[in-house]
Amino acid sequence: MSFQKPSLLIFLFFIVKINSNAEENFDVRQHLCTVTRYHVAKDISENSFVPSNINDQCTPIHLNLVARHGTRAPTKKKLKQLEALSTRLQFLLQNVEEEKKSLHNIPAWLSGWKSPWKGKHKGGELISEGEAEMYELGIRIREKFPELFKEEYHPDIYPIKTTQISRASASAVAFGMGLFSGRGNLGLGRHRAFAVTSESRASDIMLRFHDCCQNYKAFRKSQEPFVDKLNKPLLNEIAQELAKRWSLNFTTQDISSLWFLCKQEASLLNTTDRACALFSPSQVDLLEWADDLELFILKGYGNSLNYRMGVPLLEDVIQSMEKAINAREEGLVPGSYEMARLRFAHAETLLPFSCLIGLFLDGSEFELILREHPLQLPPKPPQKRIWHGSTVAPFAGNNMLVLYSCPDNNSSKYFVQVLHNEHPIRLPGCENSDVCPFEVFKERIAAPHLKHDYTALCNMESDQTEQTASVTV
Ligand SMILES: *[C@@H]1O[C@H](CO)[C@@H](O)[C@H](O)[C@H]1NC(C)=O
Ligand SMILES: *[C@@H]1O[C@H](CO)[C@@H](O)[C@H](O)[C@H]1NC(C)=O
Ligand SMILES: *[C@@H]1O[C@H](CO)[C@@H](O)[C@H](O)[C@H]1NC(C)=O
Ligand SMILES: *[C@@H]1O[C@H](CO)[C@@H](O)[C@H](O)[C@H]1NC(C)=O
Repeated sequence: MSFQKPSLLIFLFFIVKINSNAEENFDVRQHLCTVTRYHVAKDISENSFVPSNINDQCTPIHLNLVARHGTRAPTKKKLKQLEALSTRLQFLLQNVEEEKKSLHNIPAWLSGWKSPWKGKHKGGELISEGEAEMYELGIRIREKFPELFKEEYHPDIYPIKTTQISRASASAVAFGMGLFSGRGNLGLGRHRAFAVTSESRASDIMLRFHDCCQNYKAFRKSQEPFVDKLNKPLLNEIAQELAKRWSLNFTTQDISSLWFLCKQEASLLNTTDRACALFSPSQVDLLEWADDLELFILKGYGNSLNYRMGVPLLEDVIQSMEKAINAREEGLVPGSYEMARLRFAHAETLLPFSCLIGLFLDGSEFELILREHPLQLPPKPPQKRIWHGSTVAPFAGNNMLVLYSCPDNNSSKYFVQVLHNEHPIRLPGCENSDVCPFEVFKERIAAPHLKHDYTALCNMESDQTEQTASVTV
């Protein structure tokens, strides 16, 4: 036993060292919840997790992708909020001047500040940074799975599905341009045309199930006051700290707008020395947590309806894998059946889907979900939590389910590997492995959800409110 002690000491030293570095290297760009950029989020992972070594006799035979759209411009409603902030800041500064207090310690950018998006009338579209994220993702996926993407393009072999919302469909197009670049005859990039299909917005229960689900809409509305109440004390505390530091009478609404501005500046403009610099790292941690809580309650594990309404999508994923297995068993030649199903949608699609396959849980929480037990809310910093919006659903965030066929002598012939933001991720429903025998994935992870019916969940009277996460924080 004794010879193990030195290594433990070294290990502890190592952890302390990493933590102190983390303080110094605090980068607000990693704390922007769902406004986090993909390149920042992609490589933040559970560093203790060691992915499985997949037997090199196993080959990928099918891939399911569920991706959120890339980086987008602020929506119209948020553009208005920023215009209002501009007026409000000028009012606060004027008050200071009238009281003949000095403005000298107030950040210079605040005087005469105008929204960088002033005069922009439309919002919410995919911006060029977002196009690049999706285009490059397409290129990387083809490089990573050459066996899956060597076939000649056909819409039945590589179906690309998106919602009718333009930032999602533009994301699908940018992805396809990357995936099929060099494979066609169009222009210098030798691009090729490909089909991108959508259901009507009013009936898209596969990718915009939240928009068609009456019970979910009612749940969201009913939770708004609860979420506001949860955030209020924290915003209040930060408002007072900031008011004291800058001698400006900030309200909780101002703090909320300034945090929103910080997220947009840091994410879209790569500017962190303005609105973001008003907040200390520990204040950013709290604001990030508040965002993560809201995400958890309204779109994540906070309420089973949030993810159960995604059953049509989960069903589609399982069926696509079964079809690929059948084609394989029937000895069909590659190129005569579907190799990948590629979907482009929203945080409201990706998050529920991640919950349906049980990501971001610890083992005991997975059991709670199966028993319809509510989970505790993610704990307040400095306590650690698994649920971070920045990694769960950043811009261009994605899950890939890769189906492998392995030699017959193995205990199972087909395996599913789950990649989140392109990295293998632990499946608490499958003994914390990233690779799961297909039958186990289907029976243990998917089946408990698939016994529910979308129409019954969404459009019938029910007592959904009872399943809300416990209120204690
Ligand atoms: C079967 O293959 C999977 C995937 O590579 C591997 O994880 C597992 O250990 C193998 N099982 C046996 C019994 O060889
Ligand atoms: C801030 O508010 C307090 C009380 O609410 C008031 O006494 C003070 O004059 C205000 N300061 C400024 C700069 O507006
Ligand atoms: C963003 O700013 C950082 C410095 O804060 C710089 O290192 C990085 O290259 C910038 N990124 C882009 C895309 O301009
Ligand atoms: C499975 O079969 C392959 C050859 O097809 C062989 O190389 C391998 O050792 C076998 N694995 C097991 C676990 O029997």
